[in-house]
Formats: sequence, structure tokens, C-alpha cells
Amino acid sequence: MGKSKVRENKVKDEVIEEKIIDLEDLPGVGPETARKLREAGFTTIEAVGVASPAELSAAAEIGESTAAKIIAAARKFADIGGFETGDTILERRKKVGKITTGSKSLDELLGGGVETQSITELFGEFGSGKTQICHQLAVNVQMPKENGGLNGAVIVIDTENTFRPERIIQMAEAKGLDPKEVLKNIFVAQAYNSNHQMLLVDNAKELANKLKKEGKEVRLLIVDSLTSHFRAEYVGRGTLADRQQKLNRHLHDLMKFGDLFNAAIVVTNQVQAKPDTFYGDPTRPVGGHIVAHTATFRVYLRKSKGELRVARLIDSPHLPEGEAVFKITERGVEDK
Ligand code: GTP
Ligand code: MG
Repeated sequence: MGKSKVRENKVKDEVIEEKIIDLEDLPGVGPETARKLREAGFTTIEAVGVASPAELSAAAEIGESTAAKIIAAARKFADIGGFETGDTILERRKKVGKITTGSKSLDELLGGGVETQSITELFGEFGSGKTQICHQLAVNVQMPKENGGLNGAVIVIDTENTFRPERIIQMAEAKGLDPKEVLKNIFVAQAYNSNHQMLLVDNAKELANKLKKEGKEVRLLIVDSLTSHFRAEYVGRGTLADRQQKLNRHLHDLMKFGDLFNAAIVVTNQVQAKPDTFYGDPTRPVGGHIVAHTATFRVYLRKSKGELRVARLIDSPHLPEGEAVFKITERGVEDK
């Protein structure tokens, strides 16, 4: 395993400054403690910051009061529990952008499209259109504002190897865009397991920073699928709490990316139609309530006749619940 690094990002005059902080930079953490922490999975300052003193004490074989001091320092570095003034948040919220899905009715359901600085969770059974919508958004975000885009680039974390450039070409052509140019603005990485998937968010930050310096803004980060690795790796009751904790951290990192780059975060989550799998509720996705509380928009997708799909918005704090019908054709996501 490589050197563990955490980046503290600060937006200053639109230039993002990076300060790299290692576990060893924390007061009270020597090389030996750092090694034990990494072995126990506390590979980043953020991970240390959200641990409990008891957990950290056991992992690093240190006293609980030392552990508490380390946690407090990590929180300061990672800005966990940091407060912002309302006017700072307002300024940031003013910059929220929206990406068209390609369907007016689906856009309306979402309050105008997929929002930046938010996590949108697409959940539904296989074939319900989650990956298709992701592909469409990866094309649409590149369009100019007047056409429902954000002139932006895209980063895709692909966990199921379902990214298809051929499909992007079809969708780009349908929008009258140059498919070659469109493909050049989509940066795809395969995630081999859940740890790798989490690490890729750090890499995405590096890439987005680099692109920003070149004048290219990443306005969309896709994780397709958010939950497949977690589901495969954490089976059985005993591991459920671990899985939730890691998923929570992952979502927190994604949210931070969204805020930092004013990017939309779109994640997918497969649910099985078999009702009893999810406590009798077929709309209950893997990841349970942690995903539910972090995702700002939760869109439940289901198949209808032929090309038709139905989207329903669930638990949205500021939008009325409702349904939108759209279709997936060769051209991509369209109104019915
Ligand atoms: P999982 O990842 O398996 O959970 O499913 P998903 O929700 O990601 O499904 P996905 O978005 O991959 O949807 C696949 C469906 O989209 C196919 O079954 C087709 O119905 C539709 N689709 C994909 N490509 C095309 C196309 O070129 N033309 C048309 N008409 N439909 C397509
Ligand atoms: Mg898929």
C-alpha cells in the first residue's frame, strides 16, 4: 500500500490550493502508530477524524486519551465538524448548476435537472436505466448552458465495467455533438474493490484540480455502481455496521467533491425486485438509511412497457414527490 495522503482543499479566488497531510503529521502519531493505523484501515486523516477513541486506541495500541487527542487533531485538519457562515453557504448555493437528463418530464421531477453540489442516487432493478441515464448525463453535461449542459467534463468511477464509449457516440451524435470531443471529456476509472473505489475519489480530486488548471471544469462525477462492491464484500450481519460506516465515509467524500468543484454527484444503486429481500419494501435500496440520508435526490426507476421507464422521487426535502415517464431509445434518454 502506498503512502497515505489526505488533501486539505481550500477554494481561494477559484484556485484550489492543496496541502498534503500524512498521518505522521498528526501530533502523537509516529511511524509505528501510523503503520498500525493504516493496517487497521485508518488510511486517511478523515478516517481517523471520524473514529471513536476506543476504536483508535484498540487499533494503534495507544491509550484512549492519546487517541482522543489524535482524533481532535485529525478533525481540525480534515475540517470535520467545521462550521461555515450562512452567507458563505448562500454564495456557494448561488452557483448550483443543473444538467438536463434529456427528458423534460424527468428534469421537472428533479426541479430542473440533476443539480451540482448534490448527490443524486438512481436506484432500481437491473435494466431500469440507471447506467443509461449516467451515460446520457456524461454527454449532456458537456453541452452549453442554453442546451441544458454546464460546459463541463466528467469523471466516471465504473465498478461493474458497464461504461460503453459506443453508447456515448450514439448519444453524442443524437445531440449533434462531435463524439470524439465528447469522449475526450469523459475520464473513466475501473474500481476493483470498495477500497479502491474510495481511493478513486481522492484521485478524482487530483484529476479535477489538474483539469481546472488547464481550463477544464469537472461538473459531474458518476459512481456506477455505488454499492455493488460493498454488497459483495460485506456479507452477513456482523459486517453490516462496517459496511455502513465505510459507505458513509465514501458518500461524505463524494459530497465534498461536489461542493469543492461545484459538480453533480450521480450514484447508482441496484435493488432487486424480490420484495422480501429488503424487508418487504421493494424500493428499499442496498446501503439502507445512510445512503438515504446523504443522497439529496433519490430517484427510484422502474421498467414499464418496452422503452418506457418510470422515475419516482423519494424522500426529497424540498421537492414534491411525483412520477415522470420517459423512454430509453437508441438516441438515449428522451420524453415519451
Ligand atoms: P443494472 O446495472 O444491471 O442494475 O441495470 P441498469 O439500471 O444500469 O440498466 P441499464 O441502464 O443498463 O439499462 C439497460 C436497458 O436500457 C436495456 O435493457 C435497454 O432496454 C435499454 N437500452 C440500452 N441501450 C439501448 C439502445 O441502444 N436502444 C434502446 N432502445 N434501448 C437501449
Ligand atoms: Mg447498470
